[in-house]
Amino acid sequence: MGKYIMALDAGTTSNRCILFDQKGQIVSLAQKEFTQRFPKPGWVEHDANEIWSTMLGVAVEAMQKAGASYEDIAAIGITNQRETTIVWDKKTGEPVYNAIVWQCRRTSEYCDSLMERGLVDRFREKTGLVIDAYFSATKLKWILDEVPGVRERAERGDLYFGTVETWLIWKMTKGKVHVTDYTNASRTMLFNIHTLKWDEDILKELNIPLCMLPEVRPSSCVYGETASTYFGGPIPIAGAAGDQQAALFGQTCYAPGEAKNTYGTGCFLLMNTGEKPVSSTHGLVTTIAWGIGDKITYALEGSIFVGGAAIQWLRDEMKLIESSADSEYMAQKVNDTNGCYVVPAFTGLGAPYWDQYARGTILGLTRGVNKYHVIRATLESITYQVDDVLKAMEADSGMKLSALRVDGGASANNFLMQCQADISQAPVERPCCIETTAMGAAYLAGLAVGYWPDQETVKQNGAIDRTFEPELSKEERDEKMNGWHKAVRYAEGWAK
Ligand code: G3P
Repeated sequence: MGKYIMALDAGTTSNRCILFDQKGQIVSLAQKEFTQRFPKPGWVEHDANEIWSTMLGVAVEAMQKAGASYEDIAAIGITNQRETTIVWDKKTGEPVYNAIVWQCRRTSEYCDSLMERGLVDRFREKTGLVIDAYFSATKLKWILDEVPGVRERAERGDLYFGTVETWLIWKMTKGKVHVTDYTNASRTMLFNIHTLKWDEDILKELNIPLCMLPEVRPSSCVYGETASTYFGGPIPIAGAAGDQQAALFGQTCYAPGEAKNTYGTGCFLLMNTGEKPVSSTHGLVTTIAWGIGDKITYALEGSIFVGGAAIQWLRDEMKLIESSADSEYMAQKVNDTNGCYVVPAFTGLGAPYWDQYARGTILGLTRGVNKYHVIRATLESITYQVDDVLKAMEADSGMKLSALRVDGGASANNFLMQCQADISQAPVERPCCIETTAMGAAYLAGLAVGYWPDQETVKQNGAIDRTFEPELSKEERDEKMNGWHKAVRYAEGWAK
């Protein structure tokens, strides 16, 4: 048995490889950002070949840093930006179009037409999801309808569809394995989360050929081996899960009622609801948390499209900060936002609003508002959005969260975490290792090959770094949230 587990974390803006040891410690890490393409307002694309080449590059780099050969790697676990849609030729391996990213809004109007035809309840009952351009189904339909010749090739059986983990597994096995796992399948809006099958009724409705869809497997099992050319010899690929579900697993939220929030490109709050899917009446979606053996665990999810990406926006577009980390110090140069609110609805609003046409806005500007106020308001907007989904989660589940477990890059920001505790009026617990997404993928793979004997054992690897206790009064918190909800109303429907 190899010494390490390799986690490949295919994120929205970068690919990362982390080698973990048996104690869940990071042995080496390599990361590379890749190109974000915005061909039209509201459209977001990636080059699928660049996703693959950067991922292979960071995997090799992480092995070199650890001085590891393929024999040192017991298994690979993959976790990925979910919903992002890739179609490729199964003979040449060439994508027929760029990957259409989960954030892309190009199919909003088509989604409206589905809603107008009264399909909301039918889709929700089957898939657990709301009809929105966010999910893969309408992106795949767009590629079939709009890219010349693609529908004919798909119907002939020449093309494959996959989300990012499917694409990477297919590439790593040199075209031998075309699979996805339950968690990723549950984000396509094509998968019936009750029967655990691609839904023929929805496929017919959207005119999508079944033959291009991958086989759906558990999240923790051996899918195949890497081709020997990549790492000097074969390594089993033994775990796959969408990044948010992987983070839930990495935070060891194994019991119903346990929840985590990940501050990545977006923010995603997931609560384990056990073996029964719970349907939301407060704007959340029902999703598969993981499938292990023949047991499926479900989750309720609040998906926020822009979280850490708002800090990147301050850095890359507004040029108000030089690095994301600067936002922590700059936000504290002022005592408040001076009445300013930022609504970072750059790609519409997800849970609980589900407004495909909302767009970003800055409100409450007066002559005294300076860049530090805007930076602070941007950070605060992340915590307001998280609180909106937290309240929806509590209403749907009938449970009050005793503490919010956090992870992801932006959870390193102490100011942001303190604000979250203040706004949510609950303790915020940050683990020592905030790479819980990669850790979850590693655990899923390691459990499949016996590197870890059981879930109880991996649970012992977790440790809390810091707990942020609420310091703001309830009155002040309520006043801030009232201002936020007023600001959201101005952002709603803007691009309609
Ligand atoms: O559903 C989209 C999600 O998987 C993206 O995750 O970490 O890039 O915000 P992240």
